[in-house]
Amino acid sequence: MRSLKLAVGVGAALVVIGCATQQYEGAQSMPNPGVKFGTPISEADIAPWNIDIRTPDGKGLPAGRGTVAEGKTVYDAKCLVCHGAEAKGGPVYGSMVGGIGSFKTTSRVLTPGSMYPYAPILFDYIRRAMPMDRPQSLTANEIYAVSAYILNLNGLISANAAMDASSLPKVQMPNRDGFIVDDRPDTKAVRCMTNCK
Ligand code: HEC
Repeated sequence: MRSLKLAVGVGAALVVIGCATQQYEGAQSMPNPGVKFGTPISEADIAPWNIDIRTPDGKGLPAGRGTVAEGKTVYDAKCLVCHGAEAKGGPVYGSMVGGIGSFKTTSRVLTPGSMYPYAPILFDYIRRAMPMDRPQSLTANEIYAVSAYILNLNGLISANAAMDASSLPKVQMPNRDGFIVDDRPDTKAVRCMTNCK
C-alpha cells in the first residue's frame, strides 16, 4: 500500500514537472515583454563583495602596508571611542589585549591575541566589520596598520614592525594549534534512508 501511494505521488510529481516544462517552452516563444531580468553582473559590482581571505596562509590579502605607529593614529581616531585607550576596553567592548595562554585554563579571556589561530583573521574581521558604525570604510593601508597596532599591543610583533600581505600571515599566533578538528563519531555518520538500524 505504501509503495502504491509512493508510485502515485511520483507520477503526480512527474505530471507537475511536465506542465512546468511546457509552460517554460511556451514562455520562450512569447514576445519579450520588456522586463530586464538577468542583467549580467559586472566584475566591478562583484569586487566589493569578493574579499574572502584564506586565513592560514593569507591568500587573498590585498596590496597595502601599515606600521604599528600608523596604526596607533588610526586606532585613536576611529576605534578608541568604543574599545578604549590601547585596546584595554571601552564603553562598548572589553579588552582586546592580553589573555594569552588563558585558553588552557578554566577562565578563558577572548582577545585577538589569545584566540585567533591566524593573524589574517584580524585583518579580515576589521575589514568586514569595523569600525562598527562605519564598516568597510577603512583603506587597506589603514587595516594593515591598525592590525599591526593590535598585534603589537598583544606583544606579538615589535613596535617598529610593518604588516602587509607577506608579513601578516607569518605572525605566529599563540593559539595556532589550539583548535582541534571535530572528530565526534557522528561527523562520520553515513546517511541512511532505508532499513536503518
Ligand atoms: C561604534 C563602536 C565601535 C567602533 C568605533 C569600533 N568597534 Fe570594534 N567592536 C565593537 C563591538 C560592539 C565589537 C563586538 C562585536 C561582536 O562581538 O559581534 C567589536 C569587535 C571588534 C573586534 C573583535 C574583538 C575580538 O575579541 O575578537 C576587533 C578586532 C575590533 N572590534 C577592532 C576594531 C577596530 C580596529 C576599530 C577601528 C578601526 C573598531 N573596532 C572600531 C564596536 C566598535
